[in-house]
Amino acid sequence: MPTELPPYVLFAFPGADNELATKRDKLFRTVVGLIGDACSHHPALNRARLEEVARLAIWQMAFTPGSLGKHHCWLGGLLDHTGEVLGSAIDLLRLHPETTPGQLSWVRLVAAMAAIYHDLGKTATYEVLGYNFRGSPINSIRDIPITCGPTELHRTHGHLSLSYAMWEAESAPGQLSVEVGHAILAHHQLREWGSPVSPQSPAAWAVHLADMASVNISEQAYKQRDAKHA
Ligand SMILES: [Fe+2]
Ligand SMILES: [Fe+2]
Repeated sequence: MPTELPPYVLFAFPGADNELATKRDKLFRTVVGLIGDACSHHPALNRARLEEVARLAIWQMAFTPGSLGKHHCWLGGLLDHTGEVLGSAIDLLRLHPETTPGQLSWVRLVAAMAAIYHDLGKTATYEVLGYNFRGSPINSIRDIPITCGPTELHRTHGHLSLSYAMWEAESAPGQLSVEVGHAILAHHQLREWGSPVSPQSPAAWAVHLADMASVNISEQAYKQRDAKHA
């Protein structure tokens, strides 16, 4: 994945860099808040390390689209998709009074870390081929469509196993690592959709349902927009 925007994109939309950075920083601040809340209830957690693990993922995904063509295929697309998954998963968990505040902060932390790592493998399974926006007005980086293709890793491993491996590489062994790892592997819910295991925790269900909502709503919005302009 690229680590900076090509000059022709900045020439066409000089605000692209700033908008991308703002989006990235906002997502990071949200996660830092959830980490802080969990650490106040669970002092054994390593706050600085968790923030660094979150930062690594969020900075890494900035130039990756959300999919190869169905949803969030614009500059900052994976950041947008990840933000939607994170926000919806936290909202879903808030609706359930079964957990105590301490438990809730833990479950939300699991959901947050799983949300930001769940599709991180796409940074290795997608290859950006270009930014295909000629002719259309650009008001935001969402108006800068990314053309991308699958890498060899897409065919041989798929993004779930890579996302899981990336989380494993950064997380310290322990309960949090296991619960987040499970939610990452379960986020497609069914084996025929690519998950080796179904969700078996509140956080894993919340991330899966939030992912499904983000993907399907974006996909339908794409279709309606394309039909309008056909
Ligand atoms: Fe996924
Ligand atoms: Fe996803």
